[in-house]
Amino acid sequence: MGSVIEPPELSLPSPLTELADERLARCGVRLLLKRDDLIHPELTGNKYRKLRLNLAAARDGGHRTLLTFGGAWSNHLRATAAAGRLYGFRTVGVVRGDELADRPLNASLARAAADGMRLDFLDRATYRRSAEPAVLAGLLARHGPAYVLPEGGSNALAARGCTDLGREIGDRADVVAVACGTGGTLAGLAAGLPDGAEAIGFAVLRGDFLDREVRRLQQAAFGDTRGRWRVDNRFHHGGYARATPELDAFAADFAVRHGLAPEPVYVAKMLHGVFTLAAEGAFPSGTRVAAVITG
Ligand SMILES: Cc1ncc(COP(=O)(O)O)c(C=O)c1O
Repeated sequence: MGSVIEPPELSLPSPLTELADERLARCGVRLLLKRDDLIHPELTGNKYRKLRLNLAAARDGGHRTLLTFGGAWSNHLRATAAAGRLYGFRTVGVVRGDELADRPLNASLARAAADGMRLDFLDRATYRRSAEPAVLAGLLARHGPAYVLPEGGSNALAARGCTDLGREIGDRADVVAVACGTGGTLAGLAAGLPDGAEAIGFAVLRGDFLDREVRRLQQAAFGDTRGRWRVDNRFHHGGYARATPELDAFAADFAVRHGLAPEPVYVAKMLHGVFTLAAEGAFPSGTRVAAVITG
């Protein structure tokens, strides 16, 4: 597969820096932060890694338009819009909820629109069926031929793009912690890690679909399941974009101690999971845990 011309300001490999925290030190755990949030000002975190090979495939396939899906606050929609501007693709964002069409755009959609994304608001019932060939054909008829990315941007090429994350960490960690929405980042990360390391995915949504989904993505990307990984479903705090007082207190305290306010929807839940597991004695003394700051 060819490559696309990368925008300037890419900071790769992203920094891996140790963070001293007395609560972890008491448990014999060393924490490293894998700062994927610093990769690019607009393609932050896992977004660049998930899009990279897809952009190359779109270019190789002669596509000039990217079409993708998301909710009104989707980080993925916003990142795809930015990628379109930076890499020279038209973009179409199919947004869940036709009731939003008549309201002012929220900040996230306004940013996507300002980057040139054409927004198409779909009623929720049709949106749920948007992977079906008939619905997709209708969208392509409306917007013209396009390279289609699934909701959240997780497909086989996204997982393959995320193997670099595991390779960059290499043997500098025994355990790697990452937040999971659709599972594409975990699927690739685990495949890129060396044999001895384990990846733990912290689910931010309710439900136990992620094991199956990560397996499916690894099969699609690599032809088999890869690496040592597991999903922890205990730290969703009520579900997507929900929080508990315990999570809010943890995140506020983390920001004061370390001068880094964790992104609330994904990263705070993962960090809370790491600190809780450490306090429960889940990591043997001397364990090096790398936490991926995906946003
Ligand atoms: C900041 C952040 N972290 C983690 C994730 C989870 O990634 P994935 O959907 O690949 O599991 C997302 C969603 O893409 C995200 O926006």
